[in-house]
Amino acid sequence: MVKLVASGLCKLQEAPPVLSKFERFKLTFGPTPIEKLPRLTDYLGGGVELYAKREDCNSGLAFGGNKLRKLEYIVPDAIASGADTLVSIGGVQSNHTRMVAAVAAKIGMKCRLIQESWVPHEDAVYDRVGNILLSRIMGAETQLVDDGFDIGIRESWTRAIEDVKARGGKPYAIPAGASVHKLGGLGYVGFAEEVRRQEAEMGLRFDYIVTCTVTGSTHAGMAVGFAADGRARNVVGIDASCTPAQTKAQVLDIAQKTAELIGGRDIEEDDVILMEEYAYPVYGVPSKETVDAIRLAARLEGMITDPVYEGKSMQGMIDLVQKGYFPKGSKVLYAHLGGGPALNGYSYTFRNG
Ligand SMILES: Cc1ncc(COP(=O)(O)O)c(C=O)c1O
Repeated sequence: MVKLVASGLCKLQEAPPVLSKFERFKLTFGPTPIEKLPRLTDYLGGGVELYAKREDCNSGLAFGGNKLRKLEYIVPDAIASGADTLVSIGGVQSNHTRMVAAVAAKIGMKCRLIQESWVPHEDAVYDRVGNILLSRIMGAETQLVDDGFDIGIRESWTRAIEDVKARGGKPYAIPAGASVHKLGGLGYVGFAEEVRRQEAEMGLRFDYIVTCTVTGSTHAGMAVGFAADGRARNVVGIDASCTPAQTKAQVLDIAQKTAELIGGRDIEEDDVILMEEYAYPVYGVPSKETVDAIRLAARLEGMITDPVYEGKSMQGMIDLVQKGYFPKGSKVLYAHLGGGPALNGYSYTFRNG
């Protein structure tokens, strides 16, 4: 059984064995549902069976999403550090910073967020709707900064940490996407364990897992988790950063450190499969093909994906099916990682549906 931090939210539950030595603060409802995508499967010819694992429906915390699995392993460290303020960073419409704001509210900490200008997208209400709106409602202090996109460690974030200290606070630093953090890869190792249990219940095995990749710890955790049964290379990352070399290097680094931390199988460069051709024109800006994929998933399955992340991985998965990347008869699991609130910043793109 996993050790859980005392809280109203926490209940003892079955722990994935490989992660049982790590403390976990439960922020999610439990295993996320896996559903078939029958109309999308048929639309694409029926040769490849498509499923979705609904990480976008994983929690009651501010619409949920992939960051919560990661934060479940980071929060115990934050509480143990004696911090009173979570400090994090992302773009103006960052899902991650929304999740940090929700977690801070839930555990009774303050929240300081740096929101950089990662996206060259001009929309009159971009900095007032969607994710940033929700973070503000939850009481986070949001600071808009003019710097452009970069998944690495940023000076603006370091300055915010110092500023919290200067004001007499005790900061706990969470990097972009909760990725470059010693515990950031664990949550998605747990995802792989969970999929294995669900496969046993469903009586099937997924041949491929498709995920969107940007700051890297989602993909890295999955690669480590699925390496346990030889499927690290069956995790197909769809790059949405548009800086794929940096993203790939970051996935590999996090995966190797996470494998070492849990005593898992070594991960090598060839284990990181990253498709680079769907992130265009740039991070956060959808191409026509991304917008088409968003409409298609919405109209065939009622499944909402966003222009920054999931719309690009949906576009990638559709294209890979059409190109015959997945052999006939394959079962493909699309990890839907959340991100819906950002759509509010793109209302003009969808003004005609
Ligand atoms: C909705 C959504 N999908 C995918 C990703 C990519 O995950 P990661 O940053 O762990 O690569 C993110 C965050 O960056 C996200 O918010």
